[in-house]
Amino acid sequence: MTQMSEGENRKSNSLLTEEMKMQLTKLLLTKPLFDEPIAFHTTIKVGGPADALVTIHRLDELLRLLSFSREHRLPLFVLGGGSNIIVRDGGIRGIVVRLNGEFTKVSFNGAVVRAGGGASLYRLVNMAADMGLSGLEPVVGVPGTVGGAIVSNAGTAVEFIGDRVLSVHLLGEDGTQIEVDGKAILFGYRYSNVLDFGKFILAATLELKPSSPGRVRKSVEKLLEHRRRTQPINMPSAGCIFKNPPNEHAGKLIDMAKLKGFRCGRAQVSEVHANFIINLGGATAREVIELIEIVRKAVYERFGVMLEYEVQIIGEE
Ligand code: EPU
Repeated sequence: MTQMSEGENRKSNSLLTEEMKMQLTKLLLTKPLFDEPIAFHTTIKVGGPADALVTIHRLDELLRLLSFSREHRLPLFVLGGGSNIIVRDGGIRGIVVRLNGEFTKVSFNGAVVRAGGGASLYRLVNMAADMGLSGLEPVVGVPGTVGGAIVSNAGTAVEFIGDRVLSVHLLGEDGTQIEVDGKAILFGYRYSNVLDFGKFILAATLELKPSSPGRVRKSVEKLLEHRRRTQPINMPSAGCIFKNPPNEHAGKLIDMAKLKGFRCGRAQVSEVHANFIINLGGATAREVIELIEIVRKAVYERFGVMLEYEVQIIGEE
């Protein structure tokens, strides 16, 4: 039995006992992080502790984790790139899982690419550009993983990664694997039902379009330049907070409601793009969420439009 420090004693709301922590450590290839602040792993840099944060490198390891979590009835939460998510200050009970290792593999077969669910979109976009393949323009500059992008159908306001999906390979919580045809998956604006088919996106096959490296690089550069000019890319944020309402832009409405620069503690409506909330350093999730609600109310009162969240808000208060 390891001796508990005072810090560990205080974190008594963890679902993991010391015994479970030891077992979990033994069954994984790399050491789990216990009571790990999720703020370190989200792009907006807020969020309380996860009982355990584990990085999984191989399928056999993931299957062992599934048996363990089933046996101890521990909830599993899959964290992608940590963008598009706000974790409350009380953190996440159970095990937060990140896919790495074999789940980040990318391979090309002509214009068809097979990418692991944990592969970084930046890397995928770059590799496709080198191969002279276009079609990933909608996710240029999106700081996430392939799995996360498919779940939220990432993209611009009008073009999405879902448009490119030929199939998705998923693993269910019961350990069953399934390759789902892209046509069977419903993709909408910042929406997909892909997780109805399984818990983990192990890989996806995407169909790209033959072009030339020069041409693809040029359009990627142009899109990155647009983002650099119009979005607060140098500050911690969760990306766009709200979905665009039909035929409107959430950012424009928030801007017209004169909310740019408005603050709750260390959380601020970006002066660059009003649909972004930035962390000025040391913001809490509570401050970010309070600001989101103030913005939503102000836009509703001014324009009669109730903005819908694009970000996922999870975890304990
Ligand atoms: N606008 C303002 N004030 C602002 C921000 C925008 O007036 O503070 C106006 C712009 O002038 C422009 C219009 O709103 O006329 C649209 O702005 P922008 O081109 O920035 O596009 P968007 O609709 O705000 C969408 C996606 C972004 C994506 C960009 C790519 C949504 C909610 N947002 O933004 O996605 O990067 O297109 O151009 O669909 C995300 O999903 O996290 C995200 C950032």
